[in-house]
Amino acid sequence: MGKFTLDMKKYAALGRAVSAESAVLLKNDHQVLPVKKGRRVSIFGRIQFNYYNSGTGSGGMVNTTYVTGILDALKAADVDIDWELTEVYKKWVHEHPFDQGRGWGQEPWSQPEMPISDEIVEAASRRSDMAIVIIGRTAGEDQDNKEEGGSYLLSDLEEQMLGKVCRYFKRTAVVLNVGNIIDMSWVGKYNPQSVLYVWQGGMEGGNGAADVLTGKVNPSGKLTDTIAGRIRDYPSTANFGGEKEAVYAEDIYVGYRYFETVAKDRVLYPFGFGLSYTRFSAATRFEEEKDRILLSVEVTNIGQYAGKEVIQIYAAAPQGRLGKPSRSLAAFDKTGLLQPGESQKLEFSVKKKELASYDDSGCTGYKACYVLEAGRYELYAGSDVRSAVPAGGFEVAETIVTERWQEVLAPVRPFDRLKPVPADTAVGLEMGEEAVPLRTINLQERIKANRPAEIPYKGNLGIRLEQVYDGSASLEAFISQLTEEDMACMVRGEGMCSPKVTPGTAAAFGGVTHRLQELGIPVGCCADGPSGIRMDCGTHAFSLPIGTAVAATFNIPLVEELFEMLGLELRKSHIDTLLGPGMNIHRNPLNGRNFEYFSEDPHLSGKMAAAQLRGMHRSGTTGTIKHFAANNQEFKRNDIDSIVSERALREIYMKGFEIAIKEGAAFLVMSTYGALNGLWTAGSYDLLTTVLRNEWGFDGIVMTDWWAKINDEGEQGRLDNTAAMIRGQNDVYMVVNDSLSNSGGDNTLEGLAAGVITRGELQRAAANILKALMRLPVMERFLGRLSQDDVTVTGQLEAGQNEALLSSFSEVGEKLILDVSAVNTDRGSEALFGLELSEQAEYTIAIKVRAVSFELAQLPLSIFINQHLIKVITINGSKGEWITNSFDFGPYKNKHAYMRLFFGQSGMELGEIKISLKDAAEQ
Ligand code: BGC
Repeated sequence: MGKFTLDMKKYAALGRAVSAESAVLLKNDHQVLPVKKGRRVSIFGRIQFNYYNSGTGSGGMVNTTYVTGILDALKAADVDIDWELTEVYKKWVHEHPFDQGRGWGQEPWSQPEMPISDEIVEAASRRSDMAIVIIGRTAGEDQDNKEEGGSYLLSDLEEQMLGKVCRYFKRTAVVLNVGNIIDMSWVGKYNPQSVLYVWQGGMEGGNGAADVLTGKVNPSGKLTDTIAGRIRDYPSTANFGGEKEAVYAEDIYVGYRYFETVAKDRVLYPFGFGLSYTRFSAATRFEEEKDRILLSVEVTNIGQYAGKEVIQIYAAAPQGRLGKPSRSLAAFDKTGLLQPGESQKLEFSVKKKELASYDDSGCTGYKACYVLEAGRYELYAGSDVRSAVPAGGFEVAETIVTERWQEVLAPVRPFDRLKPVPADTAVGLEMGEEAVPLRTINLQERIKANRPAEIPYKGNLGIRLEQVYDGSASLEAFISQLTEEDMACMVRGEGMCSPKVTPGTAAAFGGVTHRLQELGIPVGCCADGPSGIRMDCGTHAFSLPIGTAVAATFNIPLVEELFEMLGLELRKSHIDTLLGPGMNIHRNPLNGRNFEYFSEDPHLSGKMAAAQLRGMHRSGTTGTIKHFAANNQEFKRNDIDSIVSERALREIYMKGFEIAIKEGAAFLVMSTYGALNGLWTAGSYDLLTTVLRNEWGFDGIVMTDWWAKINDEGEQGRLDNTAAMIRGQNDVYMVVNDSLSNSGGDNTLEGLAAGVITRGELQRAAANILKALMRLPVMERFLGRLSQDDVTVTGQLEAGQNEALLSSFSEVGEKLILDVSAVNTDRGSEALFGLELSEQAEYTIAIKVRAVSFELAQLPLSIFINQHLIKVITINGSKGEWITNSFDFGPYKNKHAYMRLFFGQSGMELGEIKISLKDAAEQ
């Protein structure tokens, strides 16, 4: 019996519960929802058959055993469905199958909707009492959304469908199966009675959505972003989507911080908003202590249904020399399930110093400090940012410095940023501008002045890492044995799909060479992330609701519980860290990867990440918080330079990470693809050393994003500049094929010889990696102190079925060329070949593949012989060039063997598969 138990039934129940609690009800005229018993429902929209459990790209490649769609779940809940209409859709969807596109980054962000005639809608309206219209979107890596039909806007066919349904039906509920907020101007135009965001809820998502639609669960999700009238209303839109740089001219005025301060009238649905089937009242008590404010909010259910309510506490700091947003989220909490008439008291404690602002210019007299400027601070409590009411306030007589830091990461390129100023005409504020303070420090001098001391090289002292782990030797003594070559190998992560770790995962790190393993260094394993485990060889895993959905629950304990399950699943799969939570700020609704992230608000993002980490930590596994920092656009993501003020970085873009480290004890961080104020983050000393480690006390590993670039100040980013990476204290380069041969051709040893980096800096990276490895389950497993299966799995979920193509047995003599013309290479497809091996000998397989795709595309193909995974090939976009991968297998005793191919992502073209006796293989 293992030490841990993973109950799959409980996992599924939690996935379903989070999905249901994430649903945000924006409108519910005449209580059209929940669907009343006995009402017949006509379901419109092809998404009833094509539910999106997740977005796409690395965060969307979990191979699931099943995905429950909304139609399946409504049927299972015994809703009286208008099957005649559903049959029409079924037939059409069969004739117009889901278009997977050409794989990585190429899947269309929406599917064409079925054209629908007035007659069909009219007839359905006569048969049924209400309509549910389901609209879906996906999005993902390498491409953003656009202000176009089928992306941020509804497509013409979706509009037609909605227009007709709203015309013929008295009751219409629109359900949005999306990863991200979309344009909502159609609500005013067609006026459906109900609108419900159900996000992408993972494999149990359809059940979660149906629970809310049928009233089994009362909606209690809240918007994690502001929904404005038009995309151009978001101040970041003007500076989004460029090729070379993204100027963050809106500064700290992201989302509601902008709208509530100067543009309230542009908002359709405010941040934090979400209706319930019941109503609540709230009574607040305010108490001021020296350093903190205590608020207690008594919430009472004054309606007819049991339900939960979220209370949000906002703060408003006085306009001073520094501009301030009118509201900032300071705290939130959720009640338990309150029966009609029942009350619950929620208690909040807000430290005054948490309301401080960062002065990056010195205008308050305190440059590089967090300050509470003199004036009145007001707190508000309520169920969204707009309706939160004053709860009390306090005065600050004179400016107080709450934290003193040093200037970091300031931009070098001048630009103006928004700053609220008194409005000309009316009372209130309007946006003015001010010049952003530029960099005044000399980074190279800072790096030189802080170089770590070198540990003298002692040669082999016979110390194994185990002794450090058990406390009988010091880490310093262990490191004194490592050669430069050892450490240069250690900073290279291997992947994708390294055979040294769990098949199909993103990377192996740590003891990646024999010599390192002989020293007792285990090989850690990491896998995407963030909403389930991605194993490209087809291993099934649980698919969780996406980041935005998780955050929309505003339910910290529930999120922690769900991620405890994911932690157990990681442990069971021998994976030490998830590549997630993804926690970039939703700077603009068009960002293609918003679905993986939480919110436009850093406080909510930080709290959600911390909850996920705490959940995973219960089983000893962890998460890698990513992408640090300001990774807010997919287009040209590995080259884009984000130009951001130091204040916006500290208050918005780094804040969530700070919370995740301090409250979630994160000890793995992934830097970004792009640059930040001229420095690619994977080598940014001030980001990864001055702030992350020196200010916040982070003591773990920073890894690059996969094949990221790094630069020296003033130069362009390069894939091989690991010297700059090590100097900045990004410890691991992800990923190379083979660390020992330096297959990535990196410049670590060159940089050491040239004095660009010191041995002390390389040792510091090694120490960071070793310390983290000793905190991960792999250490005990490597030492043989864990039973192979220390996680017992109970309550198995139903196994899914993958379609297989079985060709007849082909005899492999000296050489065989397989017919691959009928192989479907779409994501999730399998192809099975029977092989008759003429001799008991070793064979060589040569597979020719190509992909017309982005350079950073990840297209995995797993090759199994019988049940054994022989190889996972991950190709990037090959610009249409054929690539041949050759590898050996055998000998097998049995002359009958099966070869199974599993395609983890669409977009790969198979040219030829040649199998030959090893010696007969062409060179
Ligand atoms: C993504 C990361 C991911 C990595 C490994 C990259 O393309 O940006 O978030 O963890 O690939 O799959």
